[in-house]
Amino acid sequence: MVLSQIDVFMWCAIDPILVAPFSERAGAEHARDVTPTLHAVNPNLPLVIHDKSDRHPFVPLAFASRLDLIRPSATLAVAQQAAAMKAAGIDVISFSVGEPDFETPLSAKEGAKQAIDKGYTHYTAVRGIPPLLEAIAEEASQRRGVEISPSEIVVSCGAKQALFNLAVALYEPGDEVIIPAPYWVSYPEHALLFGAKPVVIPTHESQAFRVDPDELRKALSPRTKAVVLCTPSNPTGAAYDRKSLEAIAEAVADHDCWIIVDEIYGRLVYDGFEAVSLIKVAPELRKRMVIVDGASKSFAMTGWRVGWIIAPPELAERCEMIQGQSTSNICSIAQYAALSALREASSFVEELKEEFAKRRQRMVEGLNRLPGFRCRMPEGAFYAFASIEGLINRSTGGQKFTNDIEVATYLLHAAHVAVVPGSAFGAPNYLRFSYATSIESIDRGIERIKKALEKVS
Ligand SMILES: Cc1ncc(COP(=O)(O)O)c(C=O)c1O
Repeated sequence: MVLSQIDVFMWCAIDPILVAPFSERAGAEHARDVTPTLHAVNPNLPLVIHDKSDRHPFVPLAFASRLDLIRPSATLAVAQQAAAMKAAGIDVISFSVGEPDFETPLSAKEGAKQAIDKGYTHYTAVRGIPPLLEAIAEEASQRRGVEISPSEIVVSCGAKQALFNLAVALYEPGDEVIIPAPYWVSYPEHALLFGAKPVVIPTHESQAFRVDPDELRKALSPRTKAVVLCTPSNPTGAAYDRKSLEAIAEAVADHDCWIIVDEIYGRLVYDGFEAVSLIKVAPELRKRMVIVDGASKSFAMTGWRVGWIIAPPELAERCEMIQGQSTSNICSIAQYAALSALREASSFVEELKEEFAKRRQRMVEGLNRLPGFRCRMPEGAFYAFASIEGLINRSTGGQKFTNDIEVATYLLHAAHVAVVPGSAFGAPNYLRFSYATSIESIDRGIERIKKALEKVS
């Protein structure tokens, strides 16, 4: 196959890092010969500079060996590739985005403007301004039906930093972190960075991608430091109902481990699904439970970088200390924007949900009409996770599809549709479709895929 510049980008940025299992990455080679250009595309590969004089064939730049264990975000890599194609004038329809295509609510923007005008432009308390902590506690208590206090909250630079702080605070060599797959890309990387071992347990489409309590029991060990759940999930959109959360609570009851529940998509559920929180279902676990939440997804505020944890005060204090030694407080203006969003933009979330509910329907119906595709109706978030098992071993133009990465690459080239391969989330032979885009784009994208699949036999 002749590789274009874009192919080189895709394969370097995604393929080798996707297919390498964690065990192999733990023993990664140290000095592979990589040109600076490729290194820039995939910083996971160690940089080795050739000395033209040949007297010293290599001048290796030393980086911490922990970098050999992690990989760049595959979802960001796909989004960047789609952006590069768009910049080259190609009309790409992107189903790879992980953010709402809505404007940030007006009230949040006004909150930010007023903060600037009032001169709230200096350092704040590391964990966040008191009115924001109070607003988060109030909203969280109301929505989750339990009493939550500001002392349990630390505001970070997006839910991502909140999760990173937790990894610094909790994970160390010898620890195991149980992560149900399909998982959000950063959970295993955070564990690996701090020497912990991700223990990935599969979930199954036939069980609505909810973790099987028996599989969880089998994976738990004296080394288990944490179990990480995500509901509704990125990438599957699947959400846990009360009964399945009760079963999980029972499974971990006798194990002294942390339970981290990522509820960043918690407000985005459809068709009257009850998004009950583990903190409500299993109050007895509260001493070792952390809820991760934020403004990014429900308030279309991804760029403002406002996320938070709800954690036992002792852990919240540790996360505050860690953040105090890295970024300190998040941007003061973004904090005022989030405060206004929480206080004044609940109708915005309802509008967002209403629109996403329509798109979810359109996307899932469209995907299920495609030959070789199968997609369950997700309960929440803004992703549809489609099986493409039906395309494996089928061919086009002499090329046989052997995995989801090849199918995603084909769709990008033949249909100019960008999707994220399931392998990025530990779920081969699936593709993730984000429906945070217009109905018109969904229709056009599905139509393009349909045409491209006509050439597959
Ligand atoms: C499951 C999940 N958790 C956390 C995050 C990070 O969110 P934020 O943008 O607030 O850092 C994301 C973003 O894509 C996500 O999908």
